[in-house]
Order: sequence, then C-alpha cells, then structure tokens
Amino acid sequence: MKILVINGPNLQLLGQREPEIYGTLTLPQVCSELELFASQFKGIKIEFFQSNHEGNIVDQIGNCLKAKVDGIIINPAAFTHTSIAIYDALKAVGIPTIEVHISNIYKREDFRKHSVSAGACIGLISGLGPKGYCYALSSLVDSIKKQTI
Ligand code: DQA
Repeated sequence: MKILVINGPNLQLLGQREPEIYGTLTLPQVCSELELFASQFKGIKIEFFQSNHEGNIVDQIGNCLKAKVDGIIINPAAFTHTSIAIYDALKAVGIPTIEVHISNIYKREDFRKHSVSAGACIGLISGLGPKGYCYALSSLVDSIKKQTI
C-alpha cells in the first residue's frame, strides 16, 4: 500500500516556525516519527512531498493515479483556506485522503476556520500536533482496507 504525505507552504520551517503553535519538531523529524509509526503496519510504503507552490501540489496530486498511490495525507497549510485547485485535484483523482493540521484551526483567526480542501477528504484532524499525521495514517489504512474487501 502506497501513501503519499503532502505538506504545503512554510511547513519546511517546522521546528523554528512559531513553536508555541506548531511545536519544536522539524519536518524531517515529523516524517521519521510517521515512518516509525507506519512500520507497525505491514507492507506500507510512505512517500513525502513538501512544496510552497500551489501548482506543484496540484501536479503531485494529479500524478497519484499514474504513481499508483492508494491514499493521501495532506496538510495544505495556508492553501487549506483558499485553494479550489487543490480541492479539484483531490476530487479528480478520487483517492482516499485525510487532511491534517498540526494546530486547531477552529481555535485561531477567523480566516483559518474554513477549509476548502476538507470537502474533498474523508475527514480532517486538527489540533492534535504532529501526532495527527499518525492518527491520519491509521485511519486511512482502515478506510483503504475496507474499500478493498
Ligand atoms: C496549518 C494551519 C494553517 O492555517 C496554516 O496556514 C499552516 C499550518 C497547521 O498545520 O496547523 O501553515 O495547516
């Protein structure tokens, strides 16, 4: 089973970016924690992609069918609140997707309280810190298995 983890703009700055909101782990550390967590499931291959550019994220999602990706975990970061292009790309490929936010977007500024992309996802995890990526993985694996039974 192949899972693609997509991180959007400014998440390459995790660890130094507003640590009181996003914590002190760097993006590579968050990714290795997720890989460690994934090792309890047999046969899961995780790929990681981070970009600050909306079009690159849209391209990456669009390539998922060809790349035989079974599930997507996405933190679209600021594009969450604006990107119809990411929403459309997720709808177009129709691959099970879970959206993750490290912070609780509903407890922050009003402009963060709406997610455009979540409407194209199975569900959304917000405010549980970097562990949210692990919870998303375990839930995504369940959904994909159910789909293939
Ligand atoms: C974020 C929340 C977004 O509102 C913000 O723009 C981010 C990070 C999060 O993980 O909490 O860059 O997606």
